[in-house]
Amino acid sequence: MRVLSGIQPSGRLHIGNYFGAMRQHLKLQAEHECFYFIADYHALTSNPSPSEVARYSLDVTMDYLALGLDAEKTVFWRQSDTPEVTELTWLLSCVTPMGLLQRCVSFKDKVAQGLSPSHGLFAYPVLQAADILIYQSNLVPVGADQKQHIEVTRDIAVRFNNTFGEVFTIPEEHIIESVAIVPGTDGRKMSKSYGNTIEIFEPENSVKKKIMKIVTDSTPVEDPKDPDKCSVFALLKLLTSPEELAEWENRYRSGGMGYGEAKKRLAELMIEFFAPFRQKRAELENNMDHVKQVLADGAERARAVATKTLVQAREAVGLGG
Ligand code: ADP
Ligand code: TRP
Repeated sequence: MRVLSGIQPSGRLHIGNYFGAMRQHLKLQAEHECFYFIADYHALTSNPSPSEVARYSLDVTMDYLALGLDAEKTVFWRQSDTPEVTELTWLLSCVTPMGLLQRCVSFKDKVAQGLSPSHGLFAYPVLQAADILIYQSNLVPVGADQKQHIEVTRDIAVRFNNTFGEVFTIPEEHIIESVAIVPGTDGRKMSKSYGNTIEIFEPENSVKKKIMKIVTDSTPVEDPKDPDKCSVFALLKLLTSPEELAEWENRYRSGGMGYGEAKKRLAELMIEFFAPFRQKRAELENNMDHVKQVLADGAERARAVATKTLVQAREAVGLGG
C-alpha cells in the first residue's frame, strides 16, 4: 500500500500541525510504504518571498527528521525537485472541466482571506492531483479540509483512464482522525495565519511564556470551571495520561484552582514531550549537508516512479511517439 502526502512549507511547524497531521504521518511509516514531500510549488500560490520558500522547506525537513521520519524507509523530497509533476499537471488540466475547479471551496476561502486570485491558486487542485497520481498512490492521509481535493483527484483520474486507458491508480483518501482542532493561544484554531501558534521547536522559555499567556475566561479562582471551554485543558488532553487528565477535570469542576496552575503543568508537559526531539533537531541544524542529502536521495527515488508514470501518460495521450 503506497501512502502519499504533501506538506506546504509556509512557516515553522506548530503543535497543531504535529497533533493534527505529522504524528499520523509518522505512525503510518511502520506499516506502509510512505511518500511524503514538501509542497513548495503549492506554497508559491500564496506569494512567499524567495528566501522564505527556501528556508521553510529546510525547516520542515528538519522538523520531520527530528520527530522520527525514517529517511531510509520513507521517501521524503521537495516537490520542485521532481518537475515531471508539472508536465503531468498539464496533461491532467486538459481533461479537467472548469466546473470541477470552480466548485472547489479552498480557492474561494483563500481569496476571501486576501490571497490574490491567480491562475496558480485556481489550478492548485490539478497540481495536487498530479502529485498523487504520478506516484500511483493508494492512500492519501490529509486533514478534512483537503477531502474535496482528493475527490477532484479521483474524478480527474477516472476521466483520464476512461479516455486514454488505465494509467493511474485511483487513490482513496484517509481523513486523519485529528484529536479535534488544536486551539491556539487566543482560543481560535491554532494556525500560522492567525499568529497564535506554539512552534514545535521554538525555545523552551518562549514556549513557557506563550502557554502562560493563553487566553482564558475570567472565572474567579474559587469558582468551578468548565474544562470543555478551556484551551489549556484541550492542550492538556493531548499530553497527559488519562489518570492525570481525570484529576484536572475534577479540579476544574470543583473550583479552587486557578488557570495559572494548569498552564504551569501544561508547559512542563509540553517541554518534556518534545525534549528528546529538540536535541535531534539541534544536531540536524548543525548538519545541513545531511539534511540536503536526505532531500537529494528522496528526489532520486521519487523521480524514478514519477518518470515511469509520466512516460505512460505521455504515450497514452499521443505525445512523443
Ligand atoms: P496552518 O493552518 O497553520 O496554515 P496548514 O493548513 O498548513 O496549517 O496545516 C497542515 C496540516 O496540519 C493539515 O493537515 C491540518 O489539518 C493540520 N493542522 C493545522 N492546524 C491544525 C490545528 N489547529 N489542529 C489540528 N490540525 C491542524
Ligand atoms: N494541499 C495540501 C495542503 O495544503 C498539500 C498537498 C499538496 C498535498 N499536494 C498534496 C496533500 C498531495 C496530499 C497529497 O495541506
